[in-house]
Amino acid sequence: MPERLRVGVIGCGLVAQTQHLPNLAALPELFELSAVCDLDLSRAKRCAERFGAGRAHRDAADLLGDELDAVVIATSGDHARLVADAAGRGLGVLVEKPLCLDVATGTALRAQLAGAEQRIMVGYMRRHDGAFRGLEQATVEVGPLRAVRARTAETAASAYLRDLPIDEDLKADEEPSRAAGEDYSFLQERTGGSALSARLYKNIVLDSLVHELNMVQALAGPASSVAFAELSETGASAQVRCERATAQLSWVATPGAGRYVQEVQVLGAAGSALVRFDSPYLPASAGLLTVEGGGPDLAATWQRTTGPAPLGPFRLELVDFHAVATGERRPKTTFDEALSDIALCEALGQAAVRGEEVQVQRAAVEAVGRPTGDGSTT
Ligand SMILES: NC(=O)c1ccc[n+]([C@@H]2O[C@H](COP(=O)([O-])OP(=O)(O)OC[C@H]3O[C@@H](n4cnc5c(N)ncnc54)[C@H](O)[C@@H]3O)[C@@H](O)[C@H]2O)c1
Repeated sequence: MPERLRVGVIGCGLVAQTQHLPNLAALPELFELSAVCDLDLSRAKRCAERFGAGRAHRDAADLLGDELDAVVIATSGDHARLVADAAGRGLGVLVEKPLCLDVATGTALRAQLAGAEQRIMVGYMRRHDGAFRGLEQATVEVGPLRAVRARTAETAASAYLRDLPIDEDLKADEEPSRAAGEDYSFLQERTGGSALSARLYKNIVLDSLVHELNMVQALAGPASSVAFAELSETGASAQVRCERATAQLSWVATPGAGRYVQEVQVLGAAGSALVRFDSPYLPASAGLLTVEGGGPDLAATWQRTTGPAPLGPFRLELVDFHAVATGERRPKTTFDEALSDIALCEALGQAAVRGEEVQVQRAAVEAVGRPTGDGSTT
């Protein structure tokens, strides 16, 4: 029998109500939802009642004072302090992306952790999707790798949220960072841009594109530079040089398009493979993988499609998190990897502002190394 972990959830907003809380409740053999917390105490109380949590708090410090084995951090804003506090108490931590808002904060946090990072997993749920794992294998099958492409058309979330049993105020289409008083103007220093670009950088690059940057590096290796980047109110595009191939990324806001689409494709010398994901807010939003290949004989080309699996990636992420929190295995999506994603975000932001190629400042994160998918360190 697996050990049942007492878990607390910090932040009861959109991603918690659509994914983490229902998925924790669906895994009673692995987790006991002991406590929830939100700056909005009435929201925390509603969630405690809806998902069967023993206690509801307003202050994260009170939740961390409860008897817990693990926490899920799903707040808006900077996660670094909460990660430090939870890890400092010896808890297993699943922290939503982005891990932190800037490299300086992340490296300072990393220096404090002293081994605790092995029980910290970062919430890049796509990496747990069966279709994405298939894409990683297909990258070898259709290789050598020539290029990676990632394309996202982000639609209004409200269409996906309308019928879900979540707080009504979460169904409105708003910018991320609903919590009042969150000020990201300090990010101007990181991007060398204006207050406008700092806001776009937070909302588009750190909150959304970081998923694609993480997947691209998992497929093509660590990024060395951002050759080109563009950032505007309607989206972002970038060309990123990675160890094994160059990646092209485009993220576009298409609020009226109805269906959300995210695609990641590898182009290899012997074929190609593409995974297509629907909205992360679907209760089970597993990807669909298509692999294509052939040879000199045009009559012998082939295509195979797998997925979508019945279990969505957020559920699989929690199953994996259980093993990480009990120390059975190291995380697939590590602290160090997420920190190097933030370094890539900063290079991308700077490339967009300066209009020139920018090297990824790996020195700060290199000391800790970028781990590979199997938990070892490169
Ligand atoms: N993995 C994904 O696909 C995915 C999808 C959506 C959001 N996210 C991430 O999840 C996080 C939350 O996003 P969201 O859309 O749910 O935001 P949200 O604004 O809907 O919810 C955040 C909640 O956290 C609460 N909160 C903020 N600071 C707090 C604190 N210090 N202590 C306690 N509660 C606090 C707020 O009151 C709010 O209820 C963000 O980091 C976001 O990037 C990930």
